[in-house]
Amino acid sequence: MSNSPTEETVLDVEHFTDRLFAFSITRPPAFRFRTGEFIMIGLPKTEDQKRPIMRAYSIASPAWDDKLEFYSIKVPDGPLTSRLQKIQNGDTVLLGRKPVGTLVLDALLPGKRLWMFSTGTGFAPFASLVRDPETFERYDEVIVTHTCREADELQYSQRLVADLINDPLVGEMVVNEDGSPKLKLITSLTREDHPLKGRITTLIETGKLFEAAGTPPLDPATDRVMICGSKDMIDDTAALVAGFGLTEGSNSDPKEFVIEKAFVG
Ligand code: A2P
Repeated sequence: MSNSPTEETVLDVEHFTDRLFAFSITRPPAFRFRTGEFIMIGLPKTEDQKRPIMRAYSIASPAWDDKLEFYSIKVPDGPLTSRLQKIQNGDTVLLGRKPVGTLVLDALLPGKRLWMFSTGTGFAPFASLVRDPETFERYDEVIVTHTCREADELQYSQRLVADLINDPLVGEMVVNEDGSPKLKLITSLTREDHPLKGRITTLIETGKLFEAAGTPPLDPATDRVMICGSKDMIDDTAALVAGFGLTEGSNSDPKEFVIEKAFVG
């Protein structure tokens, strides 16, 4: 079988800010992935390119969906996103054949509470995981955090989580029997006023995160963590999480936390 990417068709494009947009493409019937994984995405090469430029993108849609959705940054002079941000319905996008990644439920040991810490487009794999029933079958409580610079950058995550209550598959799973939320989205901003201000690292260090979530601090006996953002954010957050006694797991050796990075230029 060829390893070259497949040619897929753009089905939908939505722009949120001058730095962020989401798009969906057709999904080949044989394309299988685990919720939380990423895949290489690109555009057909131009005349002056030897081969297409491909970048790793977390799949934002859940594994049961017949479309593939992605959440992307726009970088004006980025080799891929300078062109990708201009795609329109009907255009061709190249899709790699091998999804991979560590932000998968199987890389974590069972626990009581699942935390997903994200900044910017690092929310993408969690957009997939919060739409997968298995996430709620495995944990009593699911808490996603999303930290951005400005309020506009929270549109995608806030709408997606708010709409979940109407989702035919997970709608009933995101609330407990007593009506309290089983899934919580905690947002914070670093460069604009917001009920919760500050980097996720600061919120963990000061304990404000646990106050906002109504939980005790992280505990390796009960808490599992997934982290996705820029490299610095991942490194800094992972160090703090490890400080609570959680150890890093992988597909072959599940433990208490996992990290990922999916950034594009
Ligand atoms: P800040 O505004 O203080 O830089 P970016 O768009 O640059 O990826 O940033 C997304 C969010 O991640 C911003 O709110 C930013 O905060 C925050 N951030 C950047 N670096 C780190 C880090 N090392 N640890 C935690 N949060 C970070």
